[in-house]
Amino acid sequence: MTVRATLLTLGLAFNVAALAQHAGGGALPMEPANTDVSDLAALQRGAKYFVNYCFGCHSAQYVRYNRLGADLGLTDAQLVENIMFTGERPFDMMTNAMTDEDAAAWFGIAPPDLSLIARSRGTDYLYNFLRGFYQDDTALSGANNLWLENTAMPHVLWELQGVRRAVFVDRDVDGVVVPTFEHFEPVIPGTLSEAEYDGFVRDIVTFLDYIGEPMQLERRALGVRVIGFLLVFLLIAYMLKREIWKDVD
Ligand code: HEC
Repeated sequence: MTVRATLLTLGLAFNVAALAQHAGGGALPMEPANTDVSDLAALQRGAKYFVNYCFGCHSAQYVRYNRLGADLGLTDAQLVENIMFTGERPFDMMTNAMTDEDAAAWFGIAPPDLSLIARSRGTDYLYNFLRGFYQDDTALSGANNLWLENTAMPHVLWELQGVRRAVFVDRDVDGVVVPTFEHFEPVIPGTLSEAEYDGFVRDIVTFLDYIGEPMQLERRALGVRVIGFLLVFLLIAYMLKREIWKDVD
């Protein structure tokens, strides 16, 4: 491809992205997920919620159960009781039984593997996506999502969050009238309060963040140690330099 063609393609891609933003009614404010992967209790809860609410459709095929147990501080007994329900072995990967063909037949699209989703989408997106479902009777599953329009994913957490209606108002964006999200209205209350639901979702996102890079805690700890070593070494090198040069200066 020539440089000109590449530039043109890039320009087009930017335009399309800008249009997509417009179609969504401009940038919706995304709330920060504020997850903390070093929070072991949140990780343990997140793992449990994940297998109970997500694993039926989504796999996490790069995650091995026993690695999970070790990282999350779970004994084998706790692992079997809370995470492994269908007779898997500890060294198995977290694959699920749903075939892509079945999934495509049921949902029109296979639910993606979630091992790396936090890395491809970012934790803020996941946090907002899981809080962005609303009632839509025209959708096959009865639900739509603010962040993934016409998503094939049903609102699997509706009993916890409750059912909500989204209110859109028409806004003029550069001469084009675009329906813009304004607020949610409760239809059926959920079993959790809004703050509790946010916490629930945050735990799942924390878990997804962790499985996206199980090494990240070790990596950070190692980074701190390496910087510490370099600082100490800098001091030693500086003292050595002064010692060696003191007669010359
Ligand atoms: C009943 C099946 C089902 C369950 C249960 C389910 N999902 Fe999904 N999920 C889907 C399908 C189908 C898609 C593909 C949606 C699409 O692309 O429109 C999807 C897509 C996603 C995506 C990708 C969104 C994107 O931007 O592409 C994420 C993230 C996700 N699901 C997270 C979860 C989490 C977390 C849970 C557990 C709380 C969960 N899902 C439970 C069916 C399910």
